[in-house]
Amino acid sequence: MPRRSRRSAPGHVEVLRIGHRAGRDPRLTTHLALTARAFGAERLYLHPPDPALAERLVKVAAQWGGGFAVEGVRDWRAVVRDHGGAVVHLTMYGEPLARVLPRLRRADRILFVVGGAKVPSELYARSTYNVAVGHQPHSEVAALAVALALLSGVPGPGAWPGARQVIVPQARGKRVVDAGAP
Ligand SMILES: C[S@@+](CC[C@H](N)C(=O)[O-])C[C@H]1O[C@@H](n2cnc3c(N)ncnc32)[C@H](O)[C@@H]1O
Repeated sequence: MPRRSRRSAPGHVEVLRIGHRAGRDPRLTTHLALTARAFGAERLYLHPPDPALAERLVKVAAQWGGGFAVEGVRDWRAVVRDHGGAVVHLTMYGEPLARVLPRLRRADRILFVVGGAKVPSELYARSTYNVAVGHQPHSEVAALAVALALLSGVPGPGAWPGARQVIVPQARGKRVVDAGAP
């Protein structure tokens, strides 16, 4: 299988998940991390830290390739403050995504921030943009997936760097081969 680059514009995309409840919603945050990785983000900052979840994600990355990292953080404000690029808080109360997308496409670095059950109100002031993916309540996973897909496109098939295995797309059934196989 041909190897493909994981990245398309913009340069570096990271995600900060605030308000993770370890032990209460591991599945939702796992899906958020998998979605971030699959759509081209390089890192998930997880607040508060959840080492068990981070370890599961490392195993996925070892199997399917790419350099995705999960970093537990105790101080989410420091991540936002020190980022240095565009901080994009996804919230249904924000500006329409379509309005902000042209500016995001020009950004060198983007930190998407998503909340959980409750979002600290100061996040609205600390973010460069507050951006809505539609103005109805749904999910942080859906909001992130749509934002990343519209920003950079949906990644095509092919092994990621360092992958042990790769999917060969099929009209029906499943085919997974060693990433180094012809
Ligand atoms: C279950 S919602 C929480 C909603 C909560 N009432 C709040 O304070 O925003 C969890 C997260 O999903 C994301 N989200 C949900 N709907 C969204 C939308 N329409 N646009 C952008 N992000 C959304 C936001 O990041 C939000 O923090």
